[in-house]
Amino acid sequence: MTERLYELIEQLFRKQSLTVEEYEYLIENRCAEAAKLLKKKAVMLRESIYGREVFIRGLIEISNICKNDCFYCGIRKSNSLCERYRLTPSQIIECVDEGYYLGFRTFVMQGGEDAYFSDDILCDIITEIKSKYPDCAVTLSLGERSSASYQRMYDAGADRYLLRHETAEQSHYQKLHPETMSYTERMNCLSNLKSIGYQVGCGFMVGSPFQTAASLAMDLKFIESFRPDMCGIGPFIPHKNTPFKYHAAGTLELTCYLLSVIRIIYPPILLPSTTALSTISPAGRERGIQAGANVIMPNLSPQLVRKQYELYDNKAYTSEESAQCLNELKHKMRLIGYEIVSKRGDIKKSEDKRNLPQRKEF
Ligand code: 5AD
Repeated sequence: MTERLYELIEQLFRKQSLTVEEYEYLIENRCAEAAKLLKKKAVMLRESIYGREVFIRGLIEISNICKNDCFYCGIRKSNSLCERYRLTPSQIIECVDEGYYLGFRTFVMQGGEDAYFSDDILCDIITEIKSKYPDCAVTLSLGERSSASYQRMYDAGADRYLLRHETAEQSHYQKLHPETMSYTERMNCLSNLKSIGYQVGCGFMVGSPFQTAASLAMDLKFIESFRPDMCGIGPFIPHKNTPFKYHAAGTLELTCYLLSVIRIIYPPILLPSTTALSTISPAGRERGIQAGANVIMPNLSPQLVRKQYELYDNKAYTSEESAQCLNELKHKMRLIGYEIVSKRGDIKKSEDKRNLPQRKEF
């Protein structure tokens, strides 16, 4: 490892901040030794806040109907080969019932931007979940909506919102999306969600087409300044019916490296080890956790539609992706020294400095 790289890692650990150029250096000049050091620091920080606990979220894929045409996504509007479905409100509640029984205390309703899911319909569903299970958190991941809509759903009881920013470099954003979509609009949505009071998650794909070390550095700088409560990152995986079908997938190595860096930038952040990560590598889930992630989102969608919510090729359906196989997942986590817990799993923002390892500049 170069001396400069070592210094940057130490500086990141002390200040939780680097310049964009420094992040770029950290990415471009990475090596196995640097990854190991970052991982060690990331795991130590996470442990000081969350111990060895891993939070679970029950993922309910409510619809694969989407008005958008993102170039990377398998459920994009132009993919006429995609078999479309949408769950009814009662099917969604059934998934929640099953999930609650299995031990889930957070439910994520994720879907394409499907006009059927009006504010009225969503608010009814949110209200029902919250009145039936007041001890649970409801997370939404339904794309861009008006601030008024976000507000209504928040008032109905939604706690969290996931909206990946996809890339913090505007020119890169435009290369991943049609002209009808805008980087500014995306960022506005994120800031609206935050001001309303949601716990907010942003995120990006690792290895998406046209991504550079400079664009990733901007993603890291964005996370540093926006301070999201959650951040979803996973490798880009091509989907056969999209314009990006011939692009290479992102790697396990770079994804894990970035998970460690993000944990160090903002130690209390909730970081999922994503399905995409286990799709590209059999031990992806575990590697993500060992790099600094602390959340897993098993699938609670009805078996029949799981295959249809195909954002990328070969989406993992192995037992550990499935909420019904929670015991196997628990076992796998125990084998690497982690414990899956049945809690809402909110961010521990207080970041009690007394519990943190000594850092020079505190
Ligand atoms: N590979 C990996 N991740 C993808 N997503 C969409 N398409 C792909 C793909 N081909 C991610 C996007 C989106 C999230 C729901 O899934 O980042 O925000």
